[in-house]
Amino acid sequence: MARRGISRRNFLYLIGGGAIASYAMAFTGALIKFAWSPKLGETASGGAIEIAKVGEIPVGEAKLFKFNGKPSILIHLNDGFYAFGAVCTHLGCVAKWKDLENNEVIYCPCHIGKIDARTGEVLSGPVPSPFPKIVVEEKEGAIFAKAWEDSEYVKSLPMYV
Ligand code: FES
Repeated sequence: MARRGISRRNFLYLIGGGAIASYAMAFTGALIKFAWSPKLGETASGGAIEIAKVGEIPVGEAKLFKFNGKPSILIHLNDGFYAFGAVCTHLGCVAKWKDLENNEVIYCPCHIGKIDARTGEVLSGPVPSPFPKIVVEEKEGAIFAKAWEDSEYVKSLPMYV
């Protein structure tokens, strides 16, 4: 009786070749993504990214978002919106917005670090250096994150590289 279809050897070659081709495509994709990834201080699209609609965050409230792949925080104070990288410059915990004092403090729960919500400066705790500020813009009813205010400073922070 004649054998029909593909031989066992050819079938194994086919499976092996398919696996190699899949790995090669995944590797090439990762390489392209790495080569074309945005530089520090730039957004993935090369422009501003929308964080929230203006009415979405009442005064005294905040929203966590990601900026250049890093947890970040947008805060609505009575004189406008402020945004910072939220990765603590102490040991890298993600800081939060907490209803403390007069609502103008970013709070790191790991070692009770407190950060000024307008400037990013350290108010108390073991935090060694300010939180990096993000330039924000209010446009057409939305808040956009544009860039790190000081990208050289961000490059100096190990948890932001
Ligand atoms: S990690 Fe934020 S205070 Fe220690």
